Amino acid sequence: MTPKHHTCDDDAGVPAPGGLEIFTTRLMLHGVLSGSYRRFVDGMGLRGDERVLDFGAGGGAAARHLAKRLQGVGHLTCADISPAWQGVARKTLRAYTNVDFVLGDVRELELPAESYDVVVMHWMFHDVPAADRRPVLAALVAALRLGGKLFTREPSRKEDGIEVTALRNLLGGAGLSELRSAKGSSFWMGPHYAGVWEKRTG
Ligand SMILES: C[S@@+](CC[C@H](N)C(=O)[O-])C[C@H]1O[C@@H](n2cnc3c(N)ncnc32)[C@H](O)[C@@H]1O
Repeated sequence: MTPKHHTCDDDAGVPAPGGLEIFTTRLMLHGVLSGSYRRFVDGMGLRGDERVLDFGAGGGAAARHLAKRLQGVGHLTCADISPAWQGVARKTLRAYTNVDFVLGDVRELELPAESYDVVVMHWMFHDVPAADRRPVLAALVAALRLGGKLFTREPSRKEDGIEVTALRNLLGGAGLSELRSAKGSSFWMGPHYAGVWEKRTG
């Protein structure tokens, strides 16, 4: 589950990650890429009292920075479809009392409507099968309050990521407006798109 490789969707027919994959992924995400995750979270400008949903939180590489930011008044929900990765996230975040975990398909989780100030979708939406992307986004947007923001960063290579135009069309079609975006590329992550979107209509 390093950002370069698709893995880990054991509920969707892809084998669950083994111990070695979990070990190397944690090494990568909490080591080499830790600064990149921290900067991504810092760039959100959170006050610290928000209710945040980390959708596809994986092993908690972004979530651990979010949980730290929200310590005190804010709250973080980590959602994932993979029991194995959620187990890793629970371990990573065990010191935090402001975090809860939900497991399963977001369309079936019955997240309370308009209950989150922020949704984070980091390096995971390209893993969602194309046919599921619209309904998955609809469920996420329903859980976001009016004026709430969705922060995303996704690999943008056609072969193993999601094309920026396709992603923008999906987000716009789900009732979100793009506030800002950046395209970047790095040795470890490859070309990627980062965007901040706001829910403007109910
Ligand atoms: C490449 S990992 C990224 C994890 C984390 N966001 C990060 O940046 O390190 C993708 C994660 O998304 C999860 N995932 C994929 N499809 C999902 C879905 N439909 N609902 C919830 N989680 C999903 C996978 O189980 C996996 O943990």
